[in-house]
Amino acid sequence: MPEILSGKEVQQAILHQLQPRIASFRESTGRPPGLAVILVGHNPASQIYVRNKVKACQELGIYSEQYNPPETTTTEDVVQLVESLNRRPDIDGILVQMPLPAQVDAQRVILTIDPAKDVDGFHPYNLGQLVSGRPGLRPCTPAGIMRLLEHYRIPVAGKKAVVIGRSDIVGKPMALMLLHAHATVTICHSRTADLAAEARQADLLVVAAGKPALVTAEFIKPGAVVVDVGINRVTDRARVEELFGDDPDKLTSFEKTGSVLVGDVHPRDVRQRAGAYTPVPGGVGPLTIAMLMANTVEAAERRLCKCSASGSLAGWQQGSPT
Ligand code: GUN
Repeated sequence: MPEILSGKEVQQAILHQLQPRIASFRESTGRPPGLAVILVGHNPASQIYVRNKVKACQELGIYSEQYNPPETTTTEDVVQLVESLNRRPDIDGILVQMPLPAQVDAQRVILTIDPAKDVDGFHPYNLGQLVSGRPGLRPCTPAGIMRLLEHYRIPVAGKKAVVIGRSDIVGKPMALMLLHAHATVTICHSRTADLAAEARQADLLVVAAGKPALVTAEFIKPGAVVVDVGINRVTDRARVEELFGDDPDKLTSFEKTGSVLVGDVHPRDVRQRAGAYTPVPGGVGPLTIAMLMANTVEAAERRLCKCSASGSLAGWQQGSPT
């Protein structure tokens, strides 16, 4: 049986390490680190993600504020809100939940966020720091995956890594982080010719394609490490049976709720072929939230250093050599 790479276990380890840092930040400043979360409109999936992020703050003792402008809001309104949060001394991190409604210019919004408060690592300043291997706030999901690989002591240097998906949020930064960790990296996407053949070369396969069970047995080199970033809801009974026919618990859960979650990797095939894999749910999801908490603490500590012009940059994610 392949090893199961539990994101929940790594999440606990990350959050545990943050506790003393939050306590000492409170001691130095008399306040907790602060995160502002902006959710425009009422996309149901985004609402769940935001609720989980705010809950994680509460559990850890990070101050959080939530803003919920209406679906019809303008770019200008969001930009003004971000500018007001940039000026707030008690807010260390600003997160604008994506996707934004079509009439809101997401790039302009991201450009408005103070890079020192950009806990998503989406601002071009932070992305530039990542490209050049210099310290900066890193996108949470790929940074969490790197922590997962470290936690389970999965070697990356010299390995062949294939990333399926080229999003700004996951695919591109993931490829850069693996490159900095000395993997030989291929990025695949919707126009890749013979995706399965490319994927089959991988010692380490990271899938962030947004397509339920896209990756089947023929994509997976026997013994490979497979990291599944996808979270898709399946509501079609025949499809659920095809995906989970061998898993009575999933079928029972489908009977109860009318849907089940599946990643971008076929759950039965990955168990048959991989050497290790992240489950869905309980794999990558918890890591994204843990790294958001870590970035908020990083941002708070770094802003404190800048304000006091003293103290160390310990903990600030270091770049790696090229
Ligand atoms: N939408 C999906 N993932 C993310 C994320 O990591 N950050 C933000 N802001 N929006 C998202």
